[in-house]
Amino acid sequence: MYKNIFVKKDDVSVIRLDREKQLNAINEEILIELKKAFSELNKDKRTKIIIITGGKNFSAGADLKEMVNFDKKAAAKFARLIHSTFSFIENIDKPVIAAIDGYALGAGCELALVCDIRIASEHAEFGQPEVKLGIFPGAGATQRLQKIVGMGKAKEMIFTGEVIHAHEAYRIGLVNKVVDEKDLMIESRMIAEAIIKNNIESVKISKKLINKGSLKMEERYFSKAFSTGNPKEGITALFEKRKPRFL
Ligand code: CAA
Repeated sequence: MYKNIFVKKDDVSVIRLDREKQLNAINEEILIELKKAFSELNKDKRTKIIIITGGKNFSAGADLKEMVNFDKKAAAKFARLIHSTFSFIENIDKPVIAAIDGYALGAGCELALVCDIRIASEHAEFGQPEVKLGIFPGAGATQRLQKIVGMGKAKEMIFTGEVIHAHEAYRIGLVNKVVDEKDLMIESRMIAEAIIKNNIESVKISKKLINKGSLKMEERYFSKAFSTGNPKEGITALFEKRKPRFL
């Protein structure tokens, strides 16, 4: 069904970028497939959480073999597509975990930024090297990176274009955890399982509030939650020392 990605449906569904020979370079075709796959998994009743990974390399960024021939019109079309796809992924209801090995450069790093949680292998490398190519980040890093690592570090990464390794990425808060390469998927799944144990509707609302909310919205959603039986069940289960049975 897909040519550039591989999708495995489960309660923790996995999307794997599958352009290994091109280091998972991001072209129009892969963006269209990613949007379709995320949309499908967001609607899929069984899927609670989505892990996105790239195998040996997460992604070396936008497909430069296509980009080298862009004129203004082609660049505008690509920018529209990559922005709409990445914003779509960022704001889907279900949590998304990025499991990152190897290169996460340019749009590859920007794809990681739209995920909710980033787990890196010890061999992962992150960077926004666009200024070396006569461009600048075009898939969200000028806005999203600073929210995650702070403006100073975001500017350093974007202005120098230098690559940082996994442990430095962890130190500046770009990734949540660094693990041995062989444990990357195991650890990502363990985090997914820890999330799934909770009331998934509460997790989805938390995501929405964090991404696009305000204190007023939090106030409104908090009271709304009590119109379901879930808070009563969750709190009663705590007192009765049993697992909650959410609706
Ligand atoms: N686009 C298209 N193809 C790419 C690619 C990219 N971004 N990155 C790597 N490839 C291809 C290479 O052309 C090569 O294919 P061929 O064998 O067919 O020539 C294959 O992947 C392996 O790459 P290398 O031989 O270069 O591997 P390496 O280990 O020597 O180097 C690398 C790896 C350091 C990642 C190097 O490939 C590189 O610097 N790539 C470009 C990284 C980059 O600048 N990314 C930012 C892109 S711009 C962007 O993303 C803009 C945006 O924000 C929207």
